[in-house]
Amino acid sequence: MNIIQNQKSKNPTQAALLNATESAAASRPGGSILPDVVTASAPSGVSHIRSFVHRRSHITPSQKEALDQLLPLWSLPYRKAALDLDKNFGRHAPAILEIGFGMGETTQKIAQARPQDNFLGVEVFNAGVGALLKRIDESGLTNLRIIQHDAVEVVRDMLAPASLQGIHIFFPDPWPKKRHHKRRLIQPPFVELLASRLAPGGYIHCATDWENYAEQMLEVLNGEPSLENTCSGYAERPAYRPQTKFETRGLRLGHGVWDLLFKKRQA
Ligand SMILES: C[S@@+](CC[C@H](N)C(=O)[O-])C[C@H]1O[C@@H](n2cnc3c(N)ncnc32)[C@H](O)[C@@H]1O
Repeated sequence: MNIIQNQKSKNPTQAALLNATESAAASRPGGSILPDVVTASAPSGVSHIRSFVHRRSHITPSQKEALDQLLPLWSLPYRKAALDLDKNFGRHAPAILEIGFGMGETTQKIAQARPQDNFLGVEVFNAGVGALLKRIDESGLTNLRIIQHDAVEVVRDMLAPASLQGIHIFFPDPWPKKRHHKRRLIQPPFVELLASRLAPGGYIHCATDWENYAEQMLEVLNGEPSLENTCSGYAERPAYRPQTKFETRGLRLGHGVWDLLFKKRQA
């Protein structure tokens, strides 16, 4: 019995979800390598600079198997249409978006520690998506869904205004060279878009181990009028955020770590 058949027999909710999503997923290139493009066109024809580049990184056989077999079960396809979060999670609960979950260790731990919340993880990296699918399968988590696509387009096209209670962006690619700073995710237009997707009182939590990016984050988040800082300057690491792989590496290299925690103002 393969992983999916096994899932169908052990969990009726998962089986129903699989039946609802497998036909949509069958038509897309699950696990395929993303095109090596730098810009993407918005519906208006305006391009945005991508915050990632194509990586031909190693993918283990078990990550590949998870991509092939579990992507239809736990991922939602990218579409230029608003997502009905409650319908896709099968319940009404606060929705937390995570952008760039990497290998998904933190995502899994937080989703396990907060079963009352629904988590939507967005990542482009095949091995990372495969790794998180495996974690979902092995842990039996039901409050986590994945979209494998550029998060800028997911937020713009699929998430309705005020639909999120929280946004996590942990250790986004720092793009340290000055000429690459334009690729950084935390820029005023994207933060304005993110803030519009937060419900009043909802939060955005960023963390980085690059001081220069932390300064940029603070400036950009402070500059978004609909957000307010919950601290004066940087925040203590909230208890729900475990130390990530990238953070551990950064600390080993002698970097600091900066958390930023802002809230959407009440309308
Ligand atoms: C430096 S890693 C950090 C991973 C993880 N958050 C951690 O702390 O270990 C940044 C991740 O963001 C992903 N990423 C970058 N831009 C993205 C985008 N526009 N949409 C989705 N994922 C993105 C990359 O593929 C990468 O896995």
